[in-house]
Amino acid sequence: MALRVLIPAEVLRERVARLAAQICSDHPDGVVLVAVLKGSALFLADLIRTMTVPVQVDFLAVSSYAAGTGRVRLVKDLDADISGRDVVLVEDIVDTGLTLTYLHGELARRGPRSLSVCSLLDKSCRRIVPITVRYVGFEIGDEFVIGYGMDYAERYRNVGAVLAGELDVLRHDPDAYVAELFGR
Ligand code: IMP
Repeated sequence: MALRVLIPAEVLRERVARLAAQICSDHPDGVVLVAVLKGSALFLADLIRTMTVPVQVDFLAVSSYAAGTGRVRLVKDLDADISGRDVVLVEDIVDTGLTLTYLHGELARRGPRSLSVCSLLDKSCRRIVPITVRYVGFEIGDEFVIGYGMDYAERYRNVGAVLAGELDVLRHDPDAYVAELFGR
């Protein structure tokens, strides 16, 4: 049943501000941040809050063809044309790397001036496809995380910290941690 705080809110705040500063210093003329819905929504919001260069934001959403296949397709495309622009793709977690490899390829063929990847969390021990993640918030092990925008079956996104839960427990009951977290 164990649910534990992996990264407290204050630690997230400080690290995200440092990532934002790093992105600004690498893109003094401004940057387009492309966030992958929905898991990176809180991360993106905190990232842009402290950025001091011109920032444009846009969103992508992906869906798996079939659970566990690792194959994804775009279900929401960008609004903006990114050709000639400096783009940073913002993700919540890089796990196998399949999602980001697909999205990176998709964006690269639209001719951005530069394209790099920023992920709050990196589970590099689970990587199947190698991918360069230029900005990494935290390296984590093989654990299932929720909170700070990340979900299990659309639950738990609205928790301020990153929590590690048990996937078997959640598979059995997606609401397993609701009482502990929200008191009901
Ligand atoms: P990848 O294609 O295997 O790298 O998976 C990346 C996506 O899987 C992330 O953007 C998340 O949406 C999801 N994901 C991977 N690990 C976790 C986790 O521990 N908690 C919640 N979502 C996860």
